[in-house]
Amino acid sequence: MSKTIAVLAGDGIGPEIVREAVRVLEVLQRDGLDIRFEYAPLGGAAYDEYGAPYPEFTQNICRAADAVLLGAVGGPKYDHLERPLRPERGLLAIRKDLNLFANLRPAVLYPELADASTLKPEVVSGLDILIVRELTGDIYFGEPRGITTNEKGEREGINTMRYSESEIRRIGHIAFQAAAKRNKKLCSVDKANVLETTELWKEIMTDLNREYPEVSLSHMYVDNAAMQLVKNPKQFDVMVTGNIFGDILSDQASMLTGSIGMLPSASLNETGKGLYEPSHGSAPDIAGQNKANPLATILSAAMLVRYSLNDEARARRIESAVQKVLQQGLRTGDIFEEGCRLVSCSEMGDAVVAAL
Ligand code: IPM
Ligand code: MG
Repeated sequence: MSKTIAVLAGDGIGPEIVREAVRVLEVLQRDGLDIRFEYAPLGGAAYDEYGAPYPEFTQNICRAADAVLLGAVGGPKYDHLERPLRPERGLLAIRKDLNLFANLRPAVLYPELADASTLKPEVVSGLDILIVRELTGDIYFGEPRGITTNEKGEREGINTMRYSESEIRRIGHIAFQAAAKRNKKLCSVDKANVLETTELWKEIMTDLNREYPEVSLSHMYVDNAAMQLVKNPKQFDVMVTGNIFGDILSDQASMLTGSIGMLPSASLNETGKGLYEPSHGSAPDIAGQNKANPLATILSAAMLVRYSLNDEARARRIESAVQKVLQQGLRTGDIFEEGCRLVSCSEMGDAVVAAL
């Protein structure tokens, strides 16, 4: 049966990078992959068209789809809007609406890019980390929240870090299962020396370990994890953490691989439905210039094929094509180095399509 992919280009470089990823999927479609595309706006683009960052039109398409492919949202044009109307809220709303609690962010260093990292090649070569970030709880969604005036008449900002046991357990299962399929090493990141929320987190991860005895579980405070990620990143295999720590650590991990322009992500719910997006933002400074790196989005499309279409062989085909264009020496500006050929966003897409 035909699977429907909702395509949300979003803002900034979103439309350019998504266009290339769709072209890649269309190659597979011509080869017999039974998919169809439905387009809808999200973020600022949705605000412009419908007055809301995640309007009903988009909601209906995404709820009915089997998977969602997203570019990026946000831009300075929308910074003056009231908070609930901002593009980022659209992203948070779709994550919550589709219950996409499990965010998988692989940080893999392609051998061809070892010199693009700001860290020494020997520190990062062979790097292959999977960050499992909880995505629908924590301080991102906890109530109470807001900016109020306190008893002293002073303005006060409030956010609440909270996690229920069941929320921790379900992301824990995803992380243990991912670790069991890889090198059987899981590091749970918390701040249990200060925050009760993460004290509970640590306790539940320890408890879950009894169901996955083959996985060796370690715990690390988030500040130390940030340090270890640059000191000796190859000690990590799978890392599991809450929403805010995962947001920060995944950006940090991305730079180990040379560029955040290379990092895909998958956000999944219990049924395997997922939203796939590059880990990077909408890069308004280079939007519309055909300069962006489409590879993170193309690799996100590969994750879509793997997790939502259950087609491992075709997912690998996309990933090999990406590796091939890197071997050919093609680079967008963010990963460019001496001796390589500088290409535009669409030329990079052309090359991946040709390699397929
Ligand atoms: C990410 C982004 C988002 C987040 C923003 C755009 C709301 O930084 O996907 O990591 O904080 O989750
Ligand atoms: Mg982030």
